[in-house]
Amino acid sequence: MVEIEKRVLGKSGIEVTKLGLGLWAIGGDQWGVVEDHESLDVISAALDLGINFFDTADVYGGGHSEELLGKAMQGRRDKFIVGTKIGWLGFDGEKVVSAYDTVEKLVAGVESNLKRLDTDYIDVIQSHIDFREPTMEVFIEGFQKLQGQGKVRAYGVSTSNFEYLQAFNAENRASTLQIDYSILNRTPEKEIFPYTIENDLGVLVRGPLAMGILTGKFTKDTEFGEGDFRQRWIDNEDEYQVFLNDLAKVEKLKALTNGRTLGQLAIQFVMAHPAVTVAIPGAKRVSQLEQNVKAALLPPLTAEERQLIDEITPQGGGRKIWPA
Ligand SMILES: NC(=O)c1ccc[n+]([C@@H]2O[C@H](COP(=O)([O-])OP(=O)(O)OC[C@H]3O[C@@H](n4cnc5c(N)ncnc54)[C@H](OP(=O)(O)O)[C@@H]3O)[C@@H](O)[C@H]2O)c1
Repeated sequence: MVEIEKRVLGKSGIEVTKLGLGLWAIGGDQWGVVEDHESLDVISAALDLGINFFDTADVYGGGHSEELLGKAMQGRRDKFIVGTKIGWLGFDGEKVVSAYDTVEKLVAGVESNLKRLDTDYIDVIQSHIDFREPTMEVFIEGFQKLQGQGKVRAYGVSTSNFEYLQAFNAENRASTLQIDYSILNRTPEKEIFPYTIENDLGVLVRGPLAMGILTGKFTKDTEFGEGDFRQRWIDNEDEYQVFLNDLAKVEKLKALTNGRTLGQLAIQFVMAHPAVTVAIPGAKRVSQLEQNVKAALLPPLTAEERQLIDEITPQGGGRKIWPA
């Protein structure tokens, strides 16, 4: 079997496959109904297909995503590189309040991540929020303390805010950045990717399929299922205009697929950027995962294909899929 290329995750030295698996949707809320047995099948299939990096968070499905990953890891923890996150629970940016306002509380919070994951260490713990006040220092100090205790191998932050990233990494001790990047959102190419390369930060790319838009399966008339937050792209007039604009780009991109699926082209594009360590598309079903894995095994995009993509979304251009 051809193996998925492995890359070193920044200063952590941890080796991860260039394709990982995002586990937000399997939490079972916000992306519509997902059955646990299907989610467990997706995680096992990912492992069998050679993926070693899995991204989750305390808030995905109210902890259910972490619990499912913990279940899937039983008896084979060493096969998994686990990235998880902490920060949104109890956070109120307007009132400037965080549940983690002391190092002790932050450490106790990560211990809950560990408990749900049913493991004694997390490979990469990430701050899920990017607000300097009130607790950025608490997160950094807490993560470093946990590192010293061997409960965490490396730490990083999830943000698209360049100033915040620089503040978080001021001592240059962070190992990773998680960021939204795709053919529709090339904004990190301007300032952030040159910075991550210079500072040896491993980059985890979320949203490489732009939440499914870049698979080409949506139309202007798509109805998202019950409990699927993407329905707001249709219901909110401003968001609908943005969605239509994205769909127009998707139509142009379809001319470049050249025997691949559009989703595979989108994932290949992301993994090819020299700043990117691992792309973490989500997958709700094994069939989606199998398609996505093929993207990691295809020959690279040609210079001509890259140029045609630049004509559709120029370098550094596009729009943030996520506000954060
Ligand atoms: N740090 C943060 O704040 C943050 C924010 C967002 C995401 N993330 C992380 O990044 C991961 C991935 O991001 P994402 O889930 O937003 O977006 P994404 O990877 O761009 O899109 C994933 C979704 O696209 C659909 N899909 C995937 N493969 C497909 C295929 N082959 N064919 C058709 N549809 C397919 C699936 O949903 P449907 O079948 O329902 O369309 C899937 O849930 C998340 O799971 C999470 O781990 C982190």
